Amino acid sequence: MEEAVCVRNLSITFQSASGPLTVLSEFDLSIKRNEFVSLIGPSGCGKTTVLRCVANLIKPSAGEVEVNGMPPQEAVKRRQIGYVFQSATLLEWRNVLKNVLLPLELAGVNRKTAMLRAQAMIERVGLSGFTKHYPRQLSGGMQQRVAIARAMVMEPDIILMDEPFAALDEMTRDDMNQWLTEVFLATESTVLFVTHNIREAIQLSDRVVVMAARPGRIIKDFRVDFPRPRTGELLFSPEFTKLRQDAEESLYSAAHAMRKVAP
Ligand SMILES: Nc1ncnc2c1ncn2[C@@H]1O[C@H](COP(=O)(O)OP(=O)(O)O)[C@@H](O)[C@H]1O
Ligand SMILES: [Mg+2]
Repeated sequence: MEEAVCVRNLSITFQSASGPLTVLSEFDLSIKRNEFVSLIGPSGCGKTTVLRCVANLIKPSAGEVEVNGMPPQEAVKRRQIGYVFQSATLLEWRNVLKNVLLPLELAGVNRKTAMLRAQAMIERVGLSGFTKHYPRQLSGGMQQRVAIARAMVMEPDIILMDEPFAALDEMTRDDMNQWLTEVFLATESTVLFVTHNIREAIQLSDRVVVMAARPGRIIKDFRVDFPRPRTGELLFSPEFTKLRQDAEESLYSAAHAMRKVAP
């Protein structure tokens, strides 16, 4: 089975104080195995809602979501989905090692195996020297790496990342992007990544999907074929710049379309 995530005809309607709010309508998205897809779009267009549906945190009002060919609920139960939230959401009272151990403990993995896996994952995110540190003793970038390690330690097939680097400065974000590319290439996972940063989206992804709002829908799906890792001169090449401008234009028109229909 080739598809890792398949969203068909998805609609989400929330009940709000001012009546029902349709956030997503007839939304379709499919992501192949080992594909890296970024979602960009104006604030409030429903990006997080899409992720939450895939992770079984919200039930569709209509339509279907399949993860590895099964209902999201089943995929979550089999621990096939990893979720990295916008803020690191680490447990303050647990050190790095214990934060990364948490999902293994919850899954009942035996202590020795759990330790080995947690330590290997911490090494992969470049934090071997920090296992005994507490979240408050780490920089934002390091905290996010711990959160990513925690999401990946169960070796999920599918990783959902919601603006994971939004709070980082440009330099740190660059490092994190390169690092994430390495991890992606090494683990053959499937990634659905939300960002506001177009350059980041192009640098990381096989596809950049642009959403418009009210209701949330896809207005453009850009394929990105540059070889990885995407660093150095490529980022300033005419091809990269062109794609960046095209994506920026559709993002602009998405935001503009939203303003026109807003009350
Ligand atoms: N549980 C909820 N109840 C009511 N409205 C919600 C809920 N979750 C999200 N929304 C609304 O749905 C819209 C899309 O939200 P979200 O998916 O978080 O957007 P994005 O991540 O693209 O910024 C927003 O208008 C938000 O206020
Ligand atoms: Mg969001």
